[in-house]
Order: sequence, then structure tokens, then C-alpha cells
Amino acid sequence: MSDKAILEIDGEKYEFPLVRGTENEVAIDVKALRGATNGVITLDPGYKNTGSCQSAITFLDGEKGILRYRGYAIEELAEKADFLEVAYLLIFGELPNKEQLEKFHADIKSHSVVDDDVKKIIDAFPKSAHPMGVLSSLTSALTAFNPSSVNVDSEEEMYNAIVRILGKFPVLVAWTMRKKRGLPLEYGDDNLGYVENVLKMMFKSPNHDYVQNEVLVNALDKLLILHADHEQNCSTSTVRITGSSHAGLFVSLSAGISALWGPLHGGANQAVLEMLEAIKEDGGDTKKYMAKAKDKNDPFRLMGFGHRVYKNFDPRAKIIKVAADEVLSDLGVEDPILDIAKGLEKEALEDQYFVDRKLYPNVDFYSGIIYRAMGIPVEMFTVMFALGRLPGWIAQWREMRLRKEPIGRPRQLYTGETLRSFTPIEKR
Ligand code: SDX
Repeated sequence: MSDKAILEIDGEKYEFPLVRGTENEVAIDVKALRGATNGVITLDPGYKNTGSCQSAITFLDGEKGILRYRGYAIEELAEKADFLEVAYLLIFGELPNKEQLEKFHADIKSHSVVDDDVKKIIDAFPKSAHPMGVLSSLTSALTAFNPSSVNVDSEEEMYNAIVRILGKFPVLVAWTMRKKRGLPLEYGDDNLGYVENVLKMMFKSPNHDYVQNEVLVNALDKLLILHADHEQNCSTSTVRITGSSHAGLFVSLSAGISALWGPLHGGANQAVLEMLEAIKEDGGDTKKYMAKAKDKNDPFRLMGFGHRVYKNFDPRAKIIKVAADEVLSDLGVEDPILDIAKGLEKEALEDQYFVDRKLYPNVDFYSGIIYRAMGIPVEMFTVMFALGRLPGWIAQWREMRLRKEPIGRPRQLYTGETLRSFTPIEKR
């Protein structure tokens, strides 16, 4: 393949370099396009064909259903690593040795207390508040209590902000759920592992000891790994572009949480469960919902299906589907919703509409079934997605800042009114 692309406009030819990635992906570098062509730009709503950056963190191949974090296959990491190891890998680029992991965890634990005044902020929310709105607000509010984490330019300052948010975020996640349940806002236990501590903070009852359940620990650890990063998805791109103005890490993450909340993105895991519940209420009538999903006049979409990049199976969905069976049987949970999900998947995979559009189950299709079996309320499902995605967001923000990337500021094609004069109100 040549090393340049040629564009012809009105008989004039322009050359642009081709840039090749380590996985042989090819991009046309159009940095010089507008200047060379006296103002011509590209147009690509939703950025379906446009790369925003070069990145060394996550590689995914949507046609082949491949997902790798820093070169390691997701299947291997989900089976052999734990979430904190994967967080370290994503953020710093290499799997940690024993000492590095112990120091990383110790530094995180040294920041696992949240200023007590944050409880006053939580108390101001109504119990009916959606946990994603609470979490986004609290994450941004952390800036007020940790001013040294705002303007971080050196790697050391970034490291301190990173371990600070990795320590405090699980507390905010737990307090967000406990607020809804009317439970006291307590801390975890620094003697526990990262995921064990999350579960204890979420589920500890005030009047008896919390007993760890290895099935839940392993299931949550795996789910968090599977959600940890996914290259330039909507929320990660939001974190990067927010951070590109040199806004602090915490507020960049808060912006990412807000983007993730949308039902077309991370909010889909909650929408999947609500859809499956509705189908169950409807007597399991999956055909009615398949018809709605295909009806162009009906805004309903089959939640948990389809993906911007994966035009084959989402490798995470495959792993989560197996885990759902294991967790439910280990917990002795019979959940008819799982059977409805499997029936719906089978139907969709044989339906021409879905086959033609290469719509397969994505990460959100089965994850909610596990969260529900773990006793996590459905409104907290996307919060759990955010907990998993936190290291990925951090890694992407850090990469963007260390590479000193320019502030993100897309162009547009103006299609509004051309110049016109002001008409006084008495003449309108
Ligand atoms: C996540 O980007 C990431 O990496 C995201 C994520 C991550 O880890 O960060 O993987 C997490 O967000 C997973 C996706 C969760 N969202 C859902 O499950 C919501 C349901 N899915 C869709 O809304 C949709 O598939 C998207 C948003 C995920 C992708 O939308 P695209 O790429 O913009 O595709 P599109 O809307 O252009 O759809 C192409 C066609 C259309 O039909 P036609 O106009 O060609 O006739 O497929 C149809 C769509 O109507 N279609 C669906 C459908 N998804 C796409 N039809 C019915 N049900 C669906 N779910």
C-alpha cells in the first residue's frame, strides 16, 4: 500500500500522508487539509470514520470480535488477572510485579477516606435521585475537597490524583447505593482486596458482620475487568476532550460518567433489564419486541444489541454470558429473565433484519443479569459500569495529557441563514 492518499477537488490534486498503526490499521492524516484546500473540511457525524487520536492502550477489531488491553487478550485477562492488576496495566502500560502492585494498592488505600462534608452533599439529594446523577455530581465535587488534584502537569502530580480517585471512587459508588437504601454511609476495610472492599462497602448491614462470598467477588472482579476500557467510545472520548482543555482529572471523569449514563451507551445495561422485565410481564412475548425493534416508526431498540464497532460478537458478551450461568447456579438463583434473554438472543441471531445489520449482543446484554443476582439494584447497574471503566478513563486521560495533545475543537459545516439585517420588533 502506498504511503499517501490523493484527493482531487475541482481538478486540483492534494496529497495527504497515510499513517499506519501497529495492527496495520491505516489512517489518512488530514491535519493539513483545511489549509491546503483553502477551507475544505471533512464531515462525519458520530465520528464513524474519524479517528480522534493515536492510542497505545486498547485495540479492538470489530469485524473479528477482538479486544486487547495493552496487547493482552481480554479473554486471558478476565481469566488470569484481577481488576487492580488490569487497572495498573491500562494506566501504566505493563502488568505490575508483586512489589509494584502492593505499592499501587497501598497508595490507593491511603486515599480511601472521603471528606465527611461530602455526606452533606449526598444528604441533599432526594432518595429518588438516579445514582448516575449523584455519582457524577459527587465525582466533580471531590475537586473542592482535593484542590491539589486539579492542576496536575507532572507525572507525579498525575499519579497522586490517580490513586486518590481510585481510592475514593468506590466509596462514592457504595455511598450512592446506600443513600438510596437509607443505610448509613460507612467506609470499607483497608485489610481487604480492592473488589472485596467494594462489596463490603456496598452491602454491609449496620447490625451484623459482612461475610464475603467468593462467587460474588470473582464475578464482580471479572465484570469490572471486562468493562475497564474500550478505546474511543462515547464516554472515553468525552473524558479526553474535557481533559484536553486541561480541566482536572476528577471533572473530566464526571463528564465521562454523564456521557455513560445515556441508554445508547452504558445506560443500556439498565435498559436491558427493564426490557427483559417488560417482556416477562408480557408473558414472554419476545416476537412483539422484535417487531418493535424493527419498526422504523417505533423508537424502541433491542437494548443490549448492536454496536458501533463490533459487527461480530462482542467478546465481552460471550464471557459474561458464560459467567451469568455460573454465577446464577453458584448462587442457586433461578432467574426466568436469563431464559428470556437467551431466547431473545437466539431469535435475533436468526432474524434477517439483525443479520443484515450485523447486530449482536453487546457487553450490556447479559451483565445486568449478574448484577441482579448479586443483589445490586437495577438503577445501580450503570454505576457498576462506571466503576469498571474508571481505570480506562484514567489511562486515556493520562495518555492524552502526557502526549500534550491539543484542545479538542471540531469544525462544522454551517447550514444556517446567510447574512441578514436586524428587523425592529414593531416591523416583525
Ligand atoms: C456500549 O462504543 C463503545 O465501545 C460502547 C461500549 C463500551 O464498552 O464503551 O461497548 C458500551 O455502549 C455498548 C452499546 C450499548 N447500547 C445498546 O445496547 C443500545 C442499543 N443499541 C443501539 O442503540 C446501537 O446499536 C448503538 C448505539 C449501540 C450503535 O449505534 P450505531 O453504530 O450508530 O448504529 P446505527 O444507529 O446507525 O444502526 C445501524 C442500523 C439502523 O438501522 P437502518 O437505519 O440501517 O435500517 O441498525 C439498526 C438501526 O436502526 N439498529 C438497531 C439496533 N442497533 C442498531 N435496531 C434495533 N435494535 C438495536 N439495538
